[in-house]
Amino acid sequence: MPGRIYITTPLYYVNAEPHLGSTYTNVVCDSFARFHRQRGEDTFLLTGTDEHGEKIAEAARSAGISPQEFVAGVSSTFRSVWDSVGIGYDHFIRTSDPHHVRFVQDVLTRIHASGDIYFGAYSGLYCVGCERLYTERELVDGLCPQHLTKPVDVSEPNYFFRMEKYQDQVRAHIEANPDFIRPDGYRSEALAMLREPIGDLCISRPKSRLEWGIEMPFDDGYVTYVWFDALLNYVSGLEARGRREDLWPVASHFIGKDILKTHAVFWPTMLLAAGYPLYRHLNVHGFWTSGGQKMSKSLGNVVKPLELRDTYGMDAVRYYLLREMAFGNDADFTEQALITRINADLANGLGNLASRTLAMMHKYFAGEVQPLDPRTTDDDDLAEAFARARRDLDTHVNALAFHRGLEAVWRALDAANKYIVTTAPFTLAKDPAQLPRVGAILHGCLESLRVSAQLLAPFLPDTAERLRAALGLDEARFADLGLTWGAAFPTGHRIGQPVSLFPRVETAAGAAKVGSGGKTGGSTAIERRS
Ligand code: MSP
Repeated sequence: MPGRIYITTPLYYVNAEPHLGSTYTNVVCDSFARFHRQRGEDTFLLTGTDEHGEKIAEAARSAGISPQEFVAGVSSTFRSVWDSVGIGYDHFIRTSDPHHVRFVQDVLTRIHASGDIYFGAYSGLYCVGCERLYTERELVDGLCPQHLTKPVDVSEPNYFFRMEKYQDQVRAHIEANPDFIRPDGYRSEALAMLREPIGDLCISRPKSRLEWGIEMPFDDGYVTYVWFDALLNYVSGLEARGRREDLWPVASHFIGKDILKTHAVFWPTMLLAAGYPLYRHLNVHGFWTSGGQKMSKSLGNVVKPLELRDTYGMDAVRYYLLREMAFGNDADFTEQALITRINADLANGLGNLASRTLAMMHKYFAGEVQPLDPRTTDDDDLAEAFARARRDLDTHVNALAFHRGLEAVWRALDAANKYIVTTAPFTLAKDPAQLPRVGAILHGCLESLRVSAQLLAPFLPDTAERLRAALGLDEARFADLGLTWGAAFPTGHRIGQPVSLFPRVETAAGAAKVGSGGKTGGSTAIERRS
């Protein structure tokens, strides 16, 4: 029976536009979704925007427009950026969608009726940037560890959710299911949080202080706390599309490490209280930094996805993001490292194999595929290198080690480039008697390109599509991952024209500068050479 998977990105706050951090999560989720879809699984990807709360109300105020107008503008920017960089989501949810608002109010009504919501006194240290309370112990020198700002002292009557009642159940679930939260370091972090008293969760804000939110269904003097509202999107987004029953149990969330507590502690307790099953996986990644610091608007070191795409092409950006960051750890973004990856791996490794193979096919055989025999052990080794790449890719991607998965494909590509050097078809071709062997060698190279394109399709979709066209394969045959080596190209099959997949990037003086908030941007010349 084909499997099913429901993949979610966090809902992005609309107080800033998409940047490298959100682009990374969406590239990972899009690749993971394409990977599962390619293997025949029923796959659904949800993304969207988080639009309520104090932080957004403040951003709208400083933009001098109403919150409604403000969130509509930024949300549509998010949507159009994801569309133009090729993120293939199945549903885009906004927490201001009427369906979501009704859903949140229904859940609140149910939990209230079951006795898990009560009215009480609220006080503590609140970080508006994180939209949550901090305990003294979580602060660093009295400051929020994420925003390095002093939290505000809040004290007011509010509604509370009996979160602590579910604490033991959540901890037991995490202990019994080692892959519930991954990588492992974040599971340990979540368990450590759940070994301390977690308290109950304040889930309302008085309208006298904040009007921008979902009204509490049982008290029109209050709106819902933004996290209680936002987390429910993961279920309401499915329900909006009639897919809750079949897809919720196979939910796989992707988040950055700063929102671990809300997803590993708040969210499972909310699900238990609302009577829904727990999600299947919480996948946690690290931060992209720039010069060792987290990227942020105020530091002026934000990298914008559209600028990167325009300069380097989206597949190059996708490759860099997936190859450079070990999922779970932090990674530092430098444009020089991106250029090095483009030149070494994409232009030399993959691009070179494609252009050499296709050019020789046209030069010696007018683009017509020759039989795969006569073969030697070199050919068997080549086929085995790609079979191994396929196995390793699957293992690594299923373990979220995207960088290792790509590395495995590049090991096979290196083997293919070495195969050309060892077998030397350009030398053999000087002797007409050797042409059948030259044809067999090039057939092996075409198979290497075909398998690479299939394996890379989830990660580098545009490149895979260009290779498919250059190899002259129709979509149905290209989609078949079960094709055996030698089965893709019948003798006489005509390939397409040579392609230049990744021109080398030359820079006049080190890295070209992209989107550094204008602060470090220079007019470094970037030149592309085909
Ligand atoms: N709105 C909440 C999430 C609600 S989910 C129900 C939120 N939004 S956010 O816009 O502030 O952050 C969204 C995601 O971007 C988080 O997963 C966060 O970790 C991620 N990133 C923000 N900056 C980042 C980097 N510099 N690097 C990698 N990811 C980072 O939190």
